Amino acid sequence: MESLNVAIAGLGTVGQGVWKYLVEQSGPLGQRAGGNLIPYRAAVRDLQKKREVEIPASQLTTDPMDLANDPQVDILCELMGGVELPRKVTLAALENGKSVITANKAMICEHGAELFEAAERTGARLYYEASTAGGIPIIKAVREGLVANRFPLIYGILNGTCNYILTRMEREQKSFEEIVGDARRLGYVEADESLDLDGWDTAHKAAILAFLAHGRWISMQEMPVEGIREVTLDDLAWAKELGYRVKLLAVITRHLESNCIFADVHPTLVPEDLVLANVDDVFNGVSVTGNIVGETTYIGRGAGQNPTASAVITDLVDATIDRLNGVTLPPHASYGPAPALAELDDVRRPFYLRLRVADRSGVLADIARIMAHHDVSIEQLVQKPYREPDQAHLIMTTHCTSERQMRDAVRDLEADHAVQCKPLLLRILNVEV
Ligand code: NAP
Ligand code: HSE
Repeated sequence: MESLNVAIAGLGTVGQGVWKYLVEQSGPLGQRAGGNLIPYRAAVRDLQKKREVEIPASQLTTDPMDLANDPQVDILCELMGGVELPRKVTLAALENGKSVITANKAMICEHGAELFEAAERTGARLYYEASTAGGIPIIKAVREGLVANRFPLIYGILNGTCNYILTRMEREQKSFEEIVGDARRLGYVEADESLDLDGWDTAHKAAILAFLAHGRWISMQEMPVEGIREVTLDDLAWAKELGYRVKLLAVITRHLESNCIFADVHPTLVPEDLVLANVDDVFNGVSVTGNIVGETTYIGRGAGQNPTASAVITDLVDATIDRLNGVTLPPHASYGPAPALAELDDVRRPFYLRLRVADRSGVLADIARIMAHHDVSIEQLVQKPYREPDQAHLIMTTHCTSERQMRDAVRDLEADHAVQCKPLLLRILNVEV
């Protein structure tokens, strides 16, 4: 049986897992791949650091470009984190004809167009299963398992940290600040907290799923992104009373007739009878609706050493099979004319709106008038007490409304003298796209 040399740039949480299982599972993996996968060299920043896996010093380097330029390396796993150095290493490895595997969602999202173009030009291949939804094989499922389909709707819980925080807030009736402290102590929150809490990590993964399903890159400037910091305990409880759970959701839609796609990230009310409403703690979940297959749902661990190493090893076996058999599958599942991007203003869905208002006669009529003026139809309306007796919370859900109508209505509500602070607007998942 032929052998392929694997280099791992980055021996941290994920890299050490990959190295460990390549050693422990070498027999079965070799059989499945039709070639032996040899853990050959690795790059680290600190040669003195104590690690879970013991690797002879002769196999280590502090320069990941050494791996990209080593003619003995067949497959390079980029598992360092960051963006610029991984991009440089990935491009060099592809130019040198190596297969590259990465878990780096930020790099793929920012430089995917350039990297996949380099892979196509050089005939090398770039694999990215571990970049999105950790241990869930979502890339393979969409690209290969659902190849017969187009995808009118994909939505997912793609950030384990936010899901953990929202789940515990709701379950234990504790504030965002209290639970985020625990999430930090458990090492769940990324060093740059904004990536998790402000929705950017979810947005990176949403852009990757949009490329996977529709073959088009959506930049971060083109994608509306909102995190979970403004969601209060009360919102979680009120949403539940109305029949919803709040999840940080990436939603990617494709209107098949107009061939327009749209992707965004928001804390979203999910009807509680949907599977993803009940995906809790650090778990990720993805719902993929294909025009032929209907809805399919995937749940699993979105991060951590074992789930992420599992996804990297999926790619390692695929890369070995591809190299040994000269196969090059396209990196995404799309065919036909590239889709255009829909305008945010035209996106329609129901909304949840929380207002704090003066609790006196006429206020409700004013608010109803503003909503009616913008042709926003209220579905449910509930008044909740506020700690100041002369104020109250108004919680409402709307029927399907365009983003433009809703934005204009909220702007006028904010200007109304009865409204005491900035309203909170959350989206409600619309599965009827
Ligand atoms: P990590 O624990 O911080 O490990 C990073 C590794 O890269 C370390 O071994 C570090 O060396 C090495 N490294 C960093 N900069 C380097 C440089 N300039 N030269 C040489 N080596 C360098 O990161 P991780 O959690 O394993 O994540 C790796 C990648 O997987 C990231 O892109 C991340 O977004 C992605 N990912 C991670 C998870 C997860 O659960 N952790 C899940 C999905 C995706 P030292 O050890 O010497 O410092
Ligand atoms: N910060 C990410 C999360 C790690 O919480 O899901 C996995 O990509």
